[in-house]
Amino acid sequence: MIYTIEAENYRIELGSLQESSFEYFMNVNYPNSRKIILVDENTNEHCLEYLLTSYSFLSNAEVIVLPQGEENKVMDICMQVWETWSEYGFERQDVLINLGGGVITDMGGFIASLYKRGIDFVNIPTSLLAMVDASIGGKTGVDLGSYKNQIGLFVNPKAVFIDPGFIHSLPEGEVFNGFAEMLKHGLALNEGHWNELVTMIDVVKEINEEHIYNSLLLKNTIVLEDPFESDLRKKLNFGHTIGHALEGYFFENDPISHGYAVALGILAESYISFKRNYLTLSEFSQIEKVLLMHYFPIDLSNESLNEIYQLMKNDKKNKNGEIKCVLLISIGQSVINKTISELEIIDSLEYLNRLFLEAKKD
Ligand code: GLY
Repeated sequence: MIYTIEAENYRIELGSLQESSFEYFMNVNYPNSRKIILVDENTNEHCLEYLLTSYSFLSNAEVIVLPQGEENKVMDICMQVWETWSEYGFERQDVLINLGGGVITDMGGFIASLYKRGIDFVNIPTSLLAMVDASIGGKTGVDLGSYKNQIGLFVNPKAVFIDPGFIHSLPEGEVFNGFAEMLKHGLALNEGHWNELVTMIDVVKEINEEHIYNSLLLKNTIVLEDPFESDLRKKLNFGHTIGHALEGYFFENDPISHGYAVALGILAESYISFKRNYLTLSEFSQIEKVLLMHYFPIDLSNESLNEIYQLMKNDKKNKNGEIKCVLLISIGQSVINKTISELEIIDSLEYLNRLFLEAKKD
């Protein structure tokens, strides 16, 4: 079965790629275009062959392999790709297929949108994170040093084909990266989604198409209402104000994954929500219990706290120098544009560290 979701001006299909309209879509829209496939080292090894052997219309596709990992989501790599495309003589009517996780769909969309003022691109996400979040909604871009997604554009793909079978092309731990974003959708937007996720004990085994569909639907509904994040879409940044700063802080020495950083950000921002009496103790305890079941807390030294705070001061979500955050008022309901103070931030980071010290004792 194929689930179909209508997005802003494109369609998302969820289900086996073979059963989807991928081939039909490409043949109808790009019969004479050259096809470029963007992969990273991992999807080159584990996913590309499946695509190439399944579709004869891709037999002449040019494959561009990018080095793997968030540290390569930078302008230098984009420059290299643009130079290669220029040498190969790709033209404006050619089309890019992004086959990969969030780094590939974010970066591929960005590269395509600027090349010759924009060529079309189609996303085939291979990680859970890209399936439920990065591949839809039109956010594309690259990082700038420790600052995530500082350079980028809102540009929609022409179509997104989500085949959950690809999840197993990645190490099991990778599933938790995407699961954090799904928990975020539940907490910030819909209690029912949260409730269906928290019953899972073995996420890798239990996650299914329906969970992915429900998460996608929540994100897509918000994006349809506020595509350029002037208001409602900010709710999707829950867990990311502190999460991005943690990711940026660890980036230089001992990088942590985006999903793990978001999970920690969810804990810290739920803690602030609780401290403000927005969340009851029982709601906060449930969130803490669920998050700690899947994510081990992190060691934050006293010296790191101020550095993390300084990173937050440069967050692109800030306004008039104030640090803005999404907070929870109950499970499934959030409020945007809440100014959080230095004291609250440091307190929440100390809370994360207490969790680490307690977990280490056990
Ligand atoms: N990842 C959050 C958003 O797309 O708005």
